[in-house]
Amino acid sequence: MHFSAFVFDAYGTLFDVHAAVRRHAAAIGPDGQMLSEIWRAKQLEYSWVRSLMGSYADFWQLTQESLDYALRKVPSADQRLRDDLLDAYWRLDCYPEVPHVLKALKAGGARLGILSNGSPAMLEAAVRSAALDQTIDDVFSVDLIRRYKTDPSVYDMVTTSWRLYPGSISFQSSNRWDVAGATKFGFRTVWINRTSQPDEYRDLSPSLILPTLDGLLTAS
Ligand code: LAC
Repeated sequence: MHFSAFVFDAYGTLFDVHAAVRRHAAAIGPDGQMLSEIWRAKQLEYSWVRSLMGSYADFWQLTQESLDYALRKVPSADQRLRDDLLDAYWRLDCYPEVPHVLKALKAGGARLGILSNGSPAMLEAAVRSAALDQTIDDVFSVDLIRRYKTDPSVYDMVTTSWRLYPGSISFQSSNRWDVAGATKFGFRTVWINRTSQPDEYRDLSPSLILPTLDGLLTAS
């Protein structure tokens, strides 16, 4: 099947969440990678727990709270870097193939969207800083419905807005749990397995597994 509607997860799929710590790697010291991994893991945990409790707080608040936790957990990291790390989160690098893949899909007539846990302001800043604003047609933030992925109502924002059936939309994410949620919802799913992680959620498998977004240009 040929797809003409593509939706991308933001953090980890288009934007490199570890770029913030990498930018300050020298100042942080040897435990930078651990700090970044704890930061990301806690940010996601808070999103799931708050969704289950029905106690929404936006992704920027979760990003700050998870960094505060990570900094306490990794005392070797210079705590004074907090504001610099948070600032870098608004200007994350996108992965190298992202601009040309999105441009090529767009040139082929596809409609392109982002569907993310990120707050509208965070997403707008990230898209602008990576110069993707000319190629992305729509940015969908969970902030509109105040529930996080993998709540089906998140994925439903796209089908409702674009008036398309889930099966006609190709959804790309590097987060395997997000791929599971999107598969359950009915999207055609592509897992961008950038770091060769083992598979999980075996009953909710993606249609396609690619190492980077580049493969979309031949596989779609
Ligand atoms: C997002 C999270 C999953 O962008 O990274 O929605």
